[in-house]
Amino acid sequence: MTVAGVDSSSILSGRRVVLGVTGGIAAYKAVELCRLLVDAGARVAPVMTEDATRFVGEVTFSALASEPVRRSLWEGPDPIPHTRLGQGADVVVVAPATARFVGAYAHGISDDLLTATVLATRAPVVVCPAMHTEMWEHPAVQDNLDVLRRRGVVVVPPGEGRLAGGDVGAGRLAEPADILAAVARVLGPADLAGVRVVVSAGGTREPIDAVRFITNRSSGKQGHAVAEAAARRGAEVVLVTTTALAAPASATVVRVDSAAEMERAVLEQAGSADVVVMAAAVADFRPKAPAAGKLSKSDGIPDVVLEPTPDILAELGRLRRPGQLLVGFAAETADVVGRARAKLVSKGVDLVVANDVGAPGTGFDHDTNAVTILGADGSVRDVGLRSKDAVADAVLDSVVACLAARPQPPADAGATRRNQ
Ligand code: CTP
Repeated sequence: MTVAGVDSSSILSGRRVVLGVTGGIAAYKAVELCRLLVDAGARVAPVMTEDATRFVGEVTFSALASEPVRRSLWEGPDPIPHTRLGQGADVVVVAPATARFVGAYAHGISDDLLTATVLATRAPVVVCPAMHTEMWEHPAVQDNLDVLRRRGVVVVPPGEGRLAGGDVGAGRLAEPADILAAVARVLGPADLAGVRVVVSAGGTREPIDAVRFITNRSSGKQGHAVAEAAARRGAEVVLVTTTALAAPASATVVRVDSAAEMERAVLEQAGSADVVVMAAAVADFRPKAPAAGKLSKSDGIPDVVLEPTPDILAELGRLRRPGQLLVGFAAETADVVGRARAKLVSKGVDLVVANDVGAPGTGFDHDTNAVTILGADGSVRDVGLRSKDAVADAVLDSVVACLAARPQPPADAGATRRNQ
């Protein structure tokens, strides 16, 4: 498995991974994750909550990890196990993470060894929730996860499938191989250090009157995932977004609404960007003369006349400064690659991410996606169905490859540009 163009084993080899296991039926899948981490060369320190030990025996993890399981702040030879574990970790992974763990972590409550460890670490933390659908969808759980995301915690969302007790729905722990890939991504190379990346995300809203608008089904999840991955890989990120989704802690966030606002913000930010990724679903048409107040039924059926919006990406293609890399997305439901290729040429960009928004599990509002990345150099890269985080990294792998293929600017060119 490769992450950021690097084999995950070479990323994880020798790295210290604290594997936290909390009390859910999916604890049995953490056994497989433990094995995958060990096979990839990681030094795994398992930490189990008391409840986790009701589902899987300690000896299973200690045998796989060749290291004793820790489960208490008060037992064992180490007087301060949580700080020792937290300080020594390259990454902490909690899989499965119960609603209780997520709530305690979000609120800074350290009532057992695992919650104390995640609070006592400066290492990145990956949280993989698993619970019943009703609990997963509860606003308390979602709000707590948003808090964690805002603090830089990587959340690997659960998938859909069979749950305990024969129920079926969302809340099933992500597959161990996907969690392994997420961990490798977190520890992957900072190959975008020093690169300024502007990302647009979400669907624009075009007002009809003071209370109504035209929009589309875009959730902004894929654009936010690109911003998140770029920040993690060391980029200086500006995120222009129509959504209130969590953004990377280090990013500059510009919240916009309409295509006109997005155009202004993107063009302003693109002036000093090395890479612009247009993941936003910009409306193609907008009401020509939106009403200032609310239209009333008593006024009759409104005659809404539409006009085209500016094509921001095409404008970027015309205005781009030498060396700047432009990435577009193409949302299609038919002849996906053919139409995406036509956009690559007509908009004058370097990469187009072709997205079949009609296929199962892909496109608007899903947590997963499947894309084909087309390069102006003729390259074609198929990225099969996976999390939007993994797709974001695949897109950025192509960006890194394009940047590497560019002729290097003279040594002082960056300084001159920054001083402009
Ligand atoms: N885009 C843009 N400005 C617009 C419309 C689209 O910058 N007014 C960008 C999108 O952000 C995306 C790319 O252009 O990166 C392709 O968008 P898409 O909606 O797939 O295509 P359109 O150009 O809108 O063409 P069509 O809707 O006819 O397929």
